[in-house]
Amino acid sequence: MRVNLLLLATCMLPAWAADETETTNIKSLLTLDGTVTSLNDPQTRTGDYISYTSTRTLPTNHGGMVTGSAASLMGSESAVVTASASENATSTSDSMTVLTGGQTKLVGNNTVNATTSASGTPSPSPVVNTQPCNGWPEFCARNYTNITMVAAHNSPFVQKGSVAANQELDVEAQLNDGVRMLQFQTHITNNTVYLCHTSCDLLNAGTLEDYLTIVTKWMRAHPYDVVTFLIGNYDYAAPGNFTGIIEKTGLMDLVYTPPKVPMAMHDWPTLSSMILSGKRAVMFLDYQANQTAYPWLMDEFSHMWETPFSPTDPSFPCTVQRPPGLNPHDINQRMYMANHNLNLNLDVANINLLIPNTALLNVTNGVEGAGSLGAMAENCTTKWNRPPNFLLVDYYNYGSFNGSVFEVAAQMNNVTYDRKCCGAASAGSSVRPQSLGALMMVVAGILMSMG
Ligand SMILES: *[C@@H]1O[C@H](CO)[C@@H](O)[C@H](O)[C@H]1NC(C)=O
Ligand SMILES: *[C@@H]1O[C@H](CO)[C@@H](O)[C@H](O)[C@H]1NC(C)=O
Ligand SMILES: *[C@@H]1O[C@H](CO)[C@@H](O)[C@H](O)[C@H]1NC(C)=O
Ligand SMILES: *[C@@H]1O[C@H](CO)[C@@H](O)[C@H](O)[C@H]1NC(C)=O
Ligand SMILES: *[C@@H]1O[C@H](CO)[C@@H](O)[C@H](O)[C@H]1NC(C)=O
Ligand SMILES: *[C@@H]1O[C@H](CO)[C@@H](O)[C@H](O)[C@H]1NC(C)=O
Ligand SMILES: *[C@@H]1O[C@H](CO)[C@@H](O)[C@H](O)[C@H]1NC(C)=O
Ligand SMILES: *[C@@H]1O[C@H](CO)[C@@H](O)[C@H](O)[C@H]1NC(C)=O
Ligand SMILES: *[C@@H]1O[C@H](CO)[C@@H](O)[C@H](O)[C@H]1NC(C)=O
Ligand SMILES: *[C@@H]1O[C@H](CO)[C@@H](O)[C@H](O)[C@H]1NC(C)=O
Ligand SMILES: *[C@@H]1O[C@H](CO)[C@@H](O)[C@H](O)[C@H]1NC(C)=O
Ligand SMILES: *[C@@H]1O[C@H](CO)[C@@H](O)[C@H](O)[C@H]1NC(C)=O
Repeated sequence: MRVNLLLLATCMLPAWAADETETTNIKSLLTLDGTVTSLNDPQTRTGDYISYTSTRTLPTNHGGMVTGSAASLMGSESAVVTASASENATSTSDSMTVLTGGQTKLVGNNTVNATTSASGTPSPSPVVNTQPCNGWPEFCARNYTNITMVAAHNSPFVQKGSVAANQELDVEAQLNDGVRMLQFQTHITNNTVYLCHTSCDLLNAGTLEDYLTIVTKWMRAHPYDVVTFLIGNYDYAAPGNFTGIIEKTGLMDLVYTPPKVPMAMHDWPTLSSMILSGKRAVMFLDYQANQTAYPWLMDEFSHMWETPFSPTDPSFPCTVQRPPGLNPHDINQRMYMANHNLNLNLDVANINLLIPNTALLNVTNGVEGAGSLGAMAENCTTKWNRPPNFLLVDYYNYGSFNGSVFEVAAQMNNVTYDRKCCGAASAGSSVRPQSLGALMMVVAGILMSMG
């Protein structure tokens, strides 16, 4: 009986999957070694959660050469500080004006060359900063935790026609368009860290090293941007598996090391402080972080909590799912991520695969209306009295208009979005996920009705 069902399922597949590799991949998942492979989306799994009873202050303030109450733009005694934030002098033409608190002293370094103007004499009146940080001048003075950022769910999983893909545009386009958190899943196969979706047979987006090399290059070319990485440790591997790669790609030069473990909401510095220090790659690992060994590879769940993943419920309740059992004080003291990727549950025999519901992106990634990202962000803000820090989305470039996810973030941030989106270079040539989504709905329907 079960054999028949699987045969049927594999027979149905070529009809809808235009891509032969895809068909083969799905087939191999269904009939691998003649048995059924059970798949679970890793982000619905749980692991060990770290809970700290006290906060540890790290001996060295590696987080930045900026001392004092750096880059607080408030108050009339602000001094004007000009800094040429040159990453190894690769972009010396770029210069920025940052306002810092009265007595703040910036210490120059080969990473960041900062000099106080007029020998540090406080300026009589505050000067308005015009250099954008993460896209807006207003953000320079804000704490890292006081900004809503768009996060690309499974950022590397860009593969035309694949049901397991989560994005249409690659990581460079994502960053150019304004995504500031990159989330992805890692798998260790043949001693190499790959970026795979659930299984390397289903979707393999290459090595972590290649991916981070691209991102590092982008970050060096954009010295005023803070980028956050959320690494999904599918295999619950020891953190040493990632640290070597981060060093090898050169990203380590840019990695932010927190002054405390763990960092509470109010402990985080301003964007301009991070930018001036050159330490503007924020690294989180979902499971198995060890901040004793690697203080900079931060444990995700002692710094933020997440709403339910991967929702198949379009009302997107703004409840705390992970870490479980968080007390109200800790809920308040940590950042939070709104998971807003709507999935279809592809459920055949004992295979359970969640795939993006691309047919509904115009609603899901929209600014307003039931089920929209905008509505979830509003609901969350009402419930928790502050907006989400991260908005995790699939196919970020689709929505109620192209770039609507950034409009939602801009509204949360009280800034104006220019609506210039998305991925100018790749427009036109790609498969529309909507049509693929419609097909998947049909296939999912067929498969489910058989089960
Ligand atoms: C930047 O400088 C550091 C240390 O001097 C060096 O290790 C790194 O390779 C340099 N990066 C580039 C892109 O030149
Ligand atoms: C400059 O930065 C490097 C690496 O980030 C650090 O090792 C060095 O001590 C810094 N130099 C000064 C003068 O702070
Ligand atoms: C750093 O600033 C000093 C003093 O203004 C200047 O002489 C030097 O050329 C600057 N270095 C870089 C790499 O911008
Ligand atoms: C930033 O902080 C202000 C003041 O507490 C608050 O009104 C605003 O909602 C916060 N914005 C974000 C995006 O956290
Ligand atoms: C791992 O090695 C095996 C045997 O050489 C090979 O068949 C497989 O494709 C490799 N896996 C990946 C993800 O490269
Ligand atoms: C990678 O993870 C495995 C499993 O936790 C561990 O045995 C191994 O030592 C790790 N490798 C490195 C380089 O840390
Ligand atoms: C921003 O961080 C500073 C310390 O770095 C803290 O004093 C301030 O309260 C924070 N602001 C907000 C809105 O959390
Ligand atoms: C974390 O790292 C420290 C220092 O390297 C080590 O002593 C400790 O055993 C590690 N903890 C775990 C759970 O592996
Ligand atoms: C979303 O797209 C579907 C199918 O194209 C359409 O029926 C629906 O009205 C759209 N919804 C919105 C809110 O634009
Ligand atoms: C937001 O709240 C409204 C009113 O309670 C509810 O109808 C809706 O389902 C919620 N979520 C979303 C994403 O619209
Ligand atoms: C967004 O852009 C794509 C082209 O990249 C286009 O096919 C699509 O219809 C656009 N509109 C929306 C609402 O996402
Ligand atoms: C939003 O920004 C405007 C200026 O652009 C300001 O007047 C207003 O007070 C801000 N609102 C909040 C809630 O911060």
